Amino acid sequence: MQLTLLPFLFALAGLHAALASAPFHIVQNVGRDSCTLAPLGAGQDDSPQFLTAMQTCSTVVIPATSTLNISTRLNTTGLSDVHLNLQGTLRFDPNIPYWVANAFPFAFQTSITFWILGGTNIVVDGGGTLDGAGQAWYDAHAANATLLRPITFTLFQATNVLVQNIKMINSPNWFNLVNEGKNITYSDITITATSTSSNSAGNTDGWDTYRSDNVVIKDSVINNGDDCVSFKPNSTNILVSNLTCTGSHGISVGSLGQFPGVFDIVENVTAINVKMINSGNGARIKAWAGSGVGSGIVKNITFTNFVDSKVDLPITIDQCYSTTAAACAQFPSNTLIQDVVFTQMSGTSTGATVASLACSPGARCSNITVNNIAFTPPSGTPKYACQNVQLSGNSASFFGTCTTT
Ligand SMILES: *[C@@H]1O[C@H](CO)[C@@H](O)[C@H](O)[C@H]1NC(C)=O
Ligand SMILES: *[C@@H]1O[C@H](CO)[C@@H](O)[C@H](O)[C@H]1NC(C)=O
Ligand SMILES: *[C@@H]1O[C@H](CO)[C@@H](O)[C@H](O)[C@H]1NC(C)=O
Ligand SMILES: *[C@@H]1O[C@H](CO)[C@@H](O)[C@H](O)[C@H]1NC(C)=O
Ligand SMILES: *[C@@H]1O[C@H](CO)[C@@H](O)[C@H](O)[C@H]1NC(C)=O
Ligand SMILES: *[C@@H]1O[C@H](CO)[C@@H](O)[C@H](O)[C@H]1NC(C)=O
Ligand SMILES: *[C@@H]1O[C@H](CO)[C@@H](O)[C@H](O)[C@H]1NC(C)=O
Ligand SMILES: *[C@@H]1O[C@H](CO)[C@@H](O)[C@H](O)[C@H]1NC(C)=O
Ligand SMILES: *[C@@H]1O[C@H](CO)[C@@H](O)[C@H](O)[C@H]1NC(C)=O
Repeated sequence: MQLTLLPFLFALAGLHAALASAPFHIVQNVGRDSCTLAPLGAGQDDSPQFLTAMQTCSTVVIPATSTLNISTRLNTTGLSDVHLNLQGTLRFDPNIPYWVANAFPFAFQTSITFWILGGTNIVVDGGGTLDGAGQAWYDAHAANATLLRPITFTLFQATNVLVQNIKMINSPNWFNLVNEGKNITYSDITITATSTSSNSAGNTDGWDTYRSDNVVIKDSVINNGDDCVSFKPNSTNILVSNLTCTGSHGISVGSLGQFPGVFDIVENVTAINVKMINSGNGARIKAWAGSGVGSGIVKNITFTNFVDSKVDLPITIDQCYSTTAAACAQFPSNTLIQDVVFTQMSGTSTGATVASLACSPGARCSNITVNNIAFTPPSGTPKYACQNVQLSGNSASFFGTCTTT
């Protein structure tokens, strides 16, 4: 039998009219402020009832048997003390023209997103799934390389948020963006991007952090087609721990210092206990050089206890990112890199070069430490390359004298 929330609705007189017109479909009222949503079914859009519930209920339950059809963008910002107990699924209907025209845009890297969630004291948990329905996007992108693809889940201006025990599948683009967030924890997240056609599930970063402080990403398993975690401009005090990343481009700082007039900071980042499997990179820092780029600082970054399996290039600093050697010599990077530690990193690479620490000329990298590094290439001896940097630590001797350019 279906119960309604009448006393609750009358208490919210201002919202009454809006709620009465919205197809608010509550099948169970567990206490005054808990709402359980069922799908409207038959090709209908569940976004309005989901939005209303997020804005008015303190707990929103999506039961395990429910898949909500999200075909309108979700603005759930400005929330306070909300618990989304997602046991079932939110599936983002792949109506490409709709999202291209209506998804929320961010100026940063011309991104768009299905969903912005913000406010304070928010918990998202329940074991359920965010389904980006990416296949249609992977195929459409193969036919149109400039197609904008939405990020599935963006925390925007969010503080004190816990996202725990959630599966995320087939995002059209990055799975998670933390944009202007503070004190955010993700734990026990399973991310999987798979394409069933010959078109790749590209650009499907696990997480990107931007203008955010105090972020923890832990105890999670990621199978994707781009960075596992990427720290974009102004990411500070970040802990990444106990991740298994398969098929990714690694854990990346940057790229930074791209845009003229903009100063980028990435400071106090630790990535610890990471298994990196079949990946392009392992631990990586990249900063732009050349004329007409920006500036910044990368400071106090520690990569520790990485166990790699078949990683193309396990350890990378590229401070001449997307810049020719000649241009990098003429216009060295204005993004300084300092106090970086790579320690306890081991496993197998796919090529002979297992580490490449390439800094711009003119002492733009300082206090870079390499400790307890041990990689095995498929054949022969591992190669350790470096330029324009002085290394310390017990693995520095592997690199020999670095090239000066
Ligand atoms: C989702 O809703 C849209 C209408 O907004 C509809 O076109 C689409 O068929 C629905 N999808 C499903 C799986 O019900
Ligand atoms: C989201 O909704 C809030 C509250 O209505 C509004 O102030 C804000 O501008 C909206 N955000 C976007 C990006 O549309
Ligand atoms: C590719 O997608 C973009 C939208 O992101 C659109 O503006 C453009 O017209 C599309 N190009 C083609 C050839 O369809
Ligand atoms: C950080 O957020 C968590 C909820 O995820 C909360 O329990 C904790 O008190 C917050 N910390 C601070 C310093 O506000
Ligand atoms: C590491 O993460 C996995 C996957 O979420 C989890 O099962 C395991 O308990 C975590 N290990 C530790 C030591 O927290
Ligand atoms: C990063 O923070 C610094 C210091 O607050 C600020 O000057 C700079 O504009 C910020 N950069 C970005 C990309 O937000
Ligand atoms: C980095 O951590 C140190 C030590 O906790 C702290 O003093 C400093 O303010 C942090 N830097 C940033 C940018 O938060
Ligand atoms: C470096 O960053 C870590 C967090 O990643 C922090 O605990 C430590 O205090 C920072 N050290 C300094 C010297 O800022
Ligand atoms: C070098 O970097 C390490 C790691 O961040 C830090 O603990 C140490 O204090 C730095 N040394 C100097 C001389 O700055």
